[in-house]
Amino acid sequence: AFHKHPKELHLASDGPFGTWNLEQLQRGYQVYKEVCSACHSLKFVAMRDLEQLGYSEAEVKAEAASWTVPGIDPNTGETTTRPGEPTDYFPSPYPNNVAAAAANNNAIPPDLSLMTKARHDGSAYVYSLLTGFQQQPTELLKKFPSAKTPEGLHYNPYFANLNLAMAPPLTMDGQVTYADGTKATIDQMAQDVSAFLTWTAEPTMPKRKQTGWPVLGFLLFATILAYMAKQQIWSNVK
Ligand code: HEM
Repeated sequence: AFHKHPKELHLASDGPFGTWNLEQLQRGYQVYKEVCSACHSLKFVAMRDLEQLGYSEAEVKAEAASWTVPGIDPNTGETTTRPGEPTDYFPSPYPNNVAAAAANNNAIPPDLSLMTKARHDGSAYVYSLLTGFQQQPTELLKKFPSAKTPEGLHYNPYFANLNLAMAPPLTMDGQVTYADGTKATIDQMAQDVSAFLTWTAEPTMPKRKQTGWPVLGFLLFATILAYMAKQQIWSNVK
């Protein structure tokens, strides 16, 4: 009863005619880059994929170079870091899971590429989680005293086991400064990054939806044709 179903989130990509709002996806990418990427990777998303958000090839090159990715020193063979290239994937900031867990109260920040598919009602879930941090309700504590949020965890009714290791990542309006002038309220940033993570999880979604309509049209046409053929073939049978 204390675990809540996600809030409503309306995105341009919703529904059978849904398509991307590229301005929103660019804003969401900015939130991911400036906030979430401090802890979360997008290991299935390549930097060159940003071209699909409306960035030019030159912009993608510059954008990629602004990231630091793991590399190998060609002279010594030692692991090191280098600027990103369009063919690189968005990296984890941690060298490995042990380091990730050590930095986050023993929880490993999951890769976010497919998060909106991995959770029920995923896009709305991410939005709700980001805007859902709150005080633990007193009725809960009365009913289940042992469920008190442990030190270092954070109560969030949208998270299935209520206490999560992620501190609220979006804490103040204006945390990012949007290039397109949109006011960066917490709610806006949460919506934008949820839209962006909807894209990372299925970048070809509008194509899938748009393909459906000609398919339905063809099936309707084929059905009518089959019916007329049947009428024709059996027309001399009384
Ligand atoms: C977990 C999103 C920023 C640390 C998660 C989960 C999501 C998420 C969707 C998974 C919850 C689940 O398993 O259902 C985001 C977004 C961020 C962001 C969209 C940016 C707006 C951060 C930052 C940190 C962080 C900056 C570190 C300082 C973690 C950790 C977990 C987690 C440790 C695992 C929590 C647990 O399993 O208890 N995050 N996150 N996140 N995140 Fe973030």
